[in-house]
Amino acid sequence: MKLFIPNKKLVGCDGKLLNEDPVALREAGRSDISRIVNLIHENFKELGEAGILSPEQVAVYLESNQPSKLADMLENGARAVIAETNTAVVGVSFVEKTNNRTAKYNRIHVVKDKRGSGIGKALVNHCTEICKELRVGSAYFRAHRQAINTLLSLFRGLGLDTTIRSDERGKLYEILKTQTVEIKF
Ligand SMILES: CC(C)(COP(=O)(O)OP(=O)(O)OC[C@H]1O[C@@H](n2cnc3c(N)ncnc32)[C@H](O)[C@@H]1OP(=O)(O)O)[C@@H](O)C(=O)NCCC(=O)NCCS
Repeated sequence: MKLFIPNKKLVGCDGKLLNEDPVALREAGRSDISRIVNLIHENFKELGEAGILSPEQVAVYLESNQPSKLADMLENGARAVIAETNTAVVGVSFVEKTNNRTAKYNRIHVVKDKRGSGIGKALVNHCTEICKELRVGSAYFRAHRQAINTLLSLFRGLGLDTTIRSDERGKLYEILKTQTVEIKF
């Protein structure tokens, strides 16, 4: 387990520190799935309520993040890294090998009140170490348009070589409007 100290002191409107709890990073297992699902579902509901994602997009994301789906992913070799305080899971990122040369990052989420303190960066960094351990030369992630710029600057801030690939086509793309970003190590 890695202890990670958030890099920014976030102060709430009541003057209290929001991120005073130390945050630890570790690889997740099956017993963490329900807490990971809760975090991901909360995030997509929040993005829907904020009007950032349409109800149709939210429904697709909730459906594709059921506990059985995440359990299958772990069963099939995907690795999940979580960030947690003493009381809650506050971030997650998955990474999985898609063939001998390529890996895919997915489900990169940080709980709303902990964003902007470096947790997303620490999770991606840990997944990049896993990619190196897996000996893949490249990786990619796919995200809805509203998250692409944030994720691009996050990956680029880690010194990773990133390129936006041309848009996907197909039925799912028509709903989610995702874009794909390729990473070369
Ligand atoms: C994307 C997400 C995981 C980033 O996590 P985070 O913990 O807030 O990110 P960090 O604090 O580690 O920020 C790392 C870098 O990302 C970029 N970044 C973070 N928030 C940003 C924002 N709101 N706008 C632009 N860039 C941003 C910056 O480059 C930042 O580096 P800096 O702090 O040195 O400037 C988080 O915003 C999130 O959970 N979003 C909602 C879920 C989602 O849409 N996930 C995508 C899955 S499809």
